[in-house]
Amino acid sequence: MKPVIRIKDKTFERSISSAKILMEVKRMAASINTALADDSPLFLVVLNGAFMFAADLMKEITIPCEVSFVKLASYHGTKTSGNVKELIGLNETISGRTVVVVEDIVDTGITMHRIINSLNTMQPKAIHIATFFHKPDALQKDIQIDFVGMRIPDAFIVGYGLDYDGYGRNLKDIYTLINE
Ligand code: IMP
Repeated sequence: MKPVIRIKDKTFERSISSAKILMEVKRMAASINTALADDSPLFLVVLNGAFMFAADLMKEITIPCEVSFVKLASYHGTKTSGNVKELIGLNETISGRTVVVVEDIVDTGITMHRIINSLNTMQPKAIHIATFFHKPDALQKDIQIDFVGMRIPDAFIVGYGLDYDGYGRNLKDIYTLINE
C-alpha cells in the first residue's frame, strides 16, 4: 500500500520518491551545464513553489551563473486561477542576458506564458524555461520548454515545494490527490 497523507479536506497518496526526483534533477542540471556553458545565465527562480527544486538544481549547476528570485500570484485550491499577478522582485538587468526561468511546474502554461511575455519586454538575449514538473495534457499555451524534470499526468500533486492551500510544500516526496 502506498503511504497516504491528509491535508485539510483532501487525501493524497505517495506517487514519486525523493530519490527519483533527485536523479532527474541531476540529469536536468547536466543538460543545462552543457547547453548554456558559454552563456553565464541568470537563473530566475519563481517563488514560492520552486524553492526546493531550485536549491537542488543550483547545487548541480557548475557553469558561471547568477541566481535571483521573483514572485507571482499564489495558487488557490486545486485549480489554477486564471488571474495571475505581475512579476515582482526583479532587480537584475535582463537586457542582453541569457535568462533561465526556474519553475516548479508548468500546468496550463498560463503563468509561464505571462512571465515570458513580461521578460521579453526587457530585451533579453534568450529565455529558457526549466521546470521540474510538466503536465503536457493540461497545457493551453504555446510555449517552448527547454528543460523538463518529469512529465506527469494531469492530476493535482503536493510536495517538493508544491502546496495545497499553503500546506505540503515541505514534503520531500510527491503525493497525488486521490479523488474520493
Ligand atoms: P499554470 O499557470 O496552470 O501553468 O500553473 C502554474 C502554477 O500553478 C504553478 O507554478 C503552481 O504554483 C500551480 N500548480 C499547478 N499545478 C499544480 C499542482 O498539481 N499542485 C500544486 N500547484 C500546482
